[in-house]
Amino acid sequence: MNDLAGKHFVLGLSGGIACYKAAELCRALIKEGATVQVVMTEAAEQFITPVTMQALSGRPVYGSQWDSREPNNMPHINLSREADAILVAPCSADFMAKLLHGRADELLSLMCLARPIDKVPLLLAPAMNREMWANPATQRNMMQIAADGAHILGVGSGFQACGETGDGRMLEPPELLEDIIAFFQPKRLAGKRVLVTAGPTFEAIDPVRGITNLSSGKMGFAIARAAREAGAEVTLVAGPVSLSTPRGVTRIDVKSAEDMLRATEPQAQSADVFVATAAVADWRPASASDHKIKKDGSGQTPQLAFTENPDILARVAQSQRAKSGALYCVGFAAESHDLVANAQAKRVRKAVPLLVGNIGPATFGADDNALLLVDEKGTREVPRASKLELARQLVAEIADRL
Ligand code: CTP
Repeated sequence: MNDLAGKHFVLGLSGGIACYKAAELCRALIKEGATVQVVMTEAAEQFITPVTMQALSGRPVYGSQWDSREPNNMPHINLSREADAILVAPCSADFMAKLLHGRADELLSLMCLARPIDKVPLLLAPAMNREMWANPATQRNMMQIAADGAHILGVGSGFQACGETGDGRMLEPPELLEDIIAFFQPKRLAGKRVLVTAGPTFEAIDPVRGITNLSSGKMGFAIARAAREAGAEVTLVAGPVSLSTPRGVTRIDVKSAEDMLRATEPQAQSADVFVATAAVADWRPASASDHKIKKDGSGQTPQLAFTENPDILARVAQSQRAKSGALYCVGFAAESHDLVANAQAKRVRKAVPLLVGNIGPATFGADDNALLLVDEKGTREVPRASKLELARQLVAEIADRL
């Protein structure tokens, strides 16, 4: 995907060991379709060379406000006017203190001060030692800078270059990239709480085996990400999948359909939107054995009896909150044939306002898909695209209906 196609960034580096991560961030922005103009402070040049950043960005790096390459000798004006955003990564404690005071004694801070504040957002990726980060001066500066209109991307936690462990590391480039992409998405679900179920369930036969299905969870994870990008507070109830949690999403891991129901129902009490993408097993073994079922040498196979699992979507859609209209429920249908007729029937059967149909077996595990939206007015096809792109379109469709 080229989520940043057409976007032009000024990537500012202030002094800190995290400058080494800025090289990877620069590549990541470009891979995502952006163009990048790097600006470095003198301190940043102690950590990484402008040669590296020029090679990666494909543009000469600026480091001085007296740069005579600009015909009018005003790089702080020219470079900030052509940017869609100024991203300072790493943003040192000292640089934050400068921003707080509106200091402008070198090119990067001068450019931040000179930027058209309503048109060019300022995104900051702080990076510093944990004591520096926790210091009341830094925390106070950060709150004031945010109040002045900067967008703080947060910090990571863990082992630091200084040998200490705690908060204040710069976020990793993939995390920053996800947050930067999210920053530019329209905030259609701001203030809303979205609950998503995703992945397969695993129904135990005994401690070492069970019944599951081929759902990868990708669509549900993409919807959770898209909802968070749209400004929602998102909880993702996930069956056993090997996917990383989208940034800023609260994840609850579950195994069986019953676990999923137990995790989902309380969350649904305060949600505004519920999207059920999970491929919940329809049946579970009637009683799971406490011990591994062993072959006894007789050639006899074990006899399995099954019990029907609760229908999580139908249960939530029958709740008071959904019936009163406070909770908007969206179901999914993975069909192998007759998509339109099956999806329409399923929407009515599950009593949900919106049902999303797709041809199941082919999409399991794939990165793209095509969807069919079914509501009371009829059907609409959403053509094949990446699951994240489809998720964004679905989020927009949900926002339209709220
Ligand atoms: N679903 C659920 N709990 C279940 C079964 C399904 O929440 N026990 C949800 C799924 O997450 C999905 C929708 O219901 O949003 C449709 O699931 P599907 O398995 O296709 O529906 P079924 O009722 O099992 O229909 P069919 O037997 O035709 O496949």
